[in-house]
Amino acid sequence: MKVLLTGGAGYIGSHTFLSLLDSGHQAAILDNFSNGSRVVIDRLAELSGSPVRLYETDIRDAEGLGAALDDYAPDCVIHLAGLKAVSESVSYPLAYYDNNVVAAHTLLQEMSRRNIKKIVFSSTAAVYGAPQALPLSTNHPTNPVNPYGASKLMVERMIQDLVVADPDWSAVLLRYFNPVGAHSSGRIGESPNGIPNNLVPYVAMVAVGALKQVHVFGNDFETPDGTGLRDYIHVSDLARGHVAALEALSAGRAEIFNLGTGKGRSVLDVIQAYEKACNRKIPYEIKDRRPGDVGVVYADVSKAAEVLKWKALHDIEDMCRDSWNWQRLNPRGYQ
Ligand code: WQD
Repeated sequence: MKVLLTGGAGYIGSHTFLSLLDSGHQAAILDNFSNGSRVVIDRLAELSGSPVRLYETDIRDAEGLGAALDDYAPDCVIHLAGLKAVSESVSYPLAYYDNNVVAAHTLLQEMSRRNIKKIVFSSTAAVYGAPQALPLSTNHPTNPVNPYGASKLMVERMIQDLVVADPDWSAVLLRYFNPVGAHSSGRIGESPNGIPNNLVPYVAMVAVGALKQVHVFGNDFETPDGTGLRDYIHVSDLARGHVAALEALSAGRAEIFNLGTGKGRSVLDVIQAYEKACNRKIPYEIKDRRPGDVGVVYADVSKAAEVLKWKALHDIEDMCRDSWNWQRLNPRGYQ
């Protein structure tokens, strides 16, 4: 299939781009580089051995987006473009509703106009809010507790309503758990702007000496070692999940899948695995809980296994090994 990846120059997008090519699909990237680097395009050309078709525009610009859809004429769109920092969404909710919801509305409209009616959407486990039962299944109630999760749930709903109204549409909605790690080459990886909010990129910067120590947000949760438990998934496994989703698209359906490993790992598990990967001590200090943090989150991934015939192959050691390989080769990310 010919696939247009919105946000394709980002962390998930760049890995998904390579996974698509590996599976025999064609792919082009649309990005406004608000959170991605142009260096990624060069790295993808190097890794794929061919030039990358790039459309530099913002999906909120209907004209620029329309021109890209007309020029590339994709069979399907994998929609990854958007904002994704939980704490930032609390401070700037309107930016999140603009970039995530209004932008998705524009994309769906411009796709409809051109009879491009296949979409894979990048959603998040943040739509569930505080777990009422674990592991989290796709039938778990959705009560997002921040504008980021709420914006993603709104887009899920928009797409579901569209598929009901026009069964020529087919959609897969992917709820990511915690994507970490990097491509085994070490040439693409996670390159957050400034101080990372998320655990693994923060640990990576401590490992490479760019930050002093890890602040462990709370060790009084109901978990074996008291620190927060999450379902970390290797970004390459996540990328493969998008290819499986693409190949499972069917008219008149909007299917939801969790993409995780089904296993929870604590903050101290991650630090220990990272120390093994980089063969150096990772200093840390226990701090108060982060406001809004829940103790335990991990996925029920049985539906993806049954329907998509997909499951994560990498464990936390692989994730830390590949994250470290990227970080040591690119201490300042793509800067
Ligand atoms: C993981 C664990 C923290 C940083 C986020 C967002 C969203 C989603 C997944 C896409 C928690 C602890 C963290 C640190 C710490 N991505 N921690 N010290 O909050 O589970 O989810 O990523 O949808 O971006 O929902 O990820 O990496 O921030 O936290 O102790 O410096 O690490 O308390 O237990 P989170 P995280």
